[in-house]
Amino acid sequence: MTKGNSDTTSLIKQVITARKTSKVLLPLELRAEQQALWKTEHLRCVEQMLQCAAVAPFHKRADERHCQGTLNAPMPWRFHVLDPQACNKLLEYLESRVQSETQTEDEAKWSRAWQSKIKNMIAASGVLIQVTWLPDTPHEFNLKNIEHVAAAGAAVQNLLLAAQSHDWLSYWSSGGILRDEEVFDYLGICSQEQLLGSVFLSPQAHPSARVIDGGLRDERGELDGWVRWVST
Ligand SMILES: Cc1cc2nc3c(=O)[nH]c(=O)nc-3n(C[C@H](O)[C@H](O)[C@H](O)COP(=O)(O)O)c2cc1C
Repeated sequence: MTKGNSDTTSLIKQVITARKTSKVLLPLELRAEQQALWKTEHLRCVEQMLQCAAVAPFHKRADERHCQGTLNAPMPWRFHVLDPQACNKLLEYLESRVQSETQTEDEAKWSRAWQSKIKNMIAASGVLIQVTWLPDTPHEFNLKNIEHVAAAGAAVQNLLLAAQSHDWLSYWSSGGILRDEEVFDYLGICSQEQLLGSVFLSPQAHPSARVIDGGLRDERGELDGWVRWVST
């Protein structure tokens, strides 16, 4: 690549500015049709997106206790990827928890979650990625942990931009019930990891899906609302 190549610069700007939150909601009954849109090459696209996430900057190694198993990379984040089959099983799991729930248990958290949009977002998804950051001890919001969160955030943004470069829809969500420790347990995510977000990625929306923009999308205003050129 030529340094400062104007085609590359404008392409990158185009991808960055085109990236947007797309919350895609699909009725559960249409999940099978959504899945039929999924092709094996889509998994290769996801792998390429993950390679882009991998090259995000990070300052400090993750604490050793997070590096004992097969996920032993030094970066302070982990990505747990649910492919379409795993998303189906997650839907089944969530529904089964509703059916076995007693009314009083945790204020019926499973029923409330099932009534939320989460099932429709999973139904609309291609893949769901549970992104965690890896806290260091002590569990304080000290410089090291702030930088771990920042690095994990950079990895997510790389993922979103890579998804955009493939023209995929993406949505970074706080996760709702997907933060729950029982869901972590079900997904095999270590309880010492902290959810940074549940990222929904889809190569295309089903024609009957509802697509909702991010709530703060148009609230940014001009640069002078948050940029100050320092003159002393
Ligand atoms: C850490 C993080 C968590 C988010 N969680 C949610 C969420 O739970 N629900 C939601 O509607 N949007 C969520 N968003 C997306 C924002 O709503 C969205 O980025 C914002 O409205 C700006 O829109 P844009 O992404 O299209 O530029 C989250 C974004 C970030 C960075």
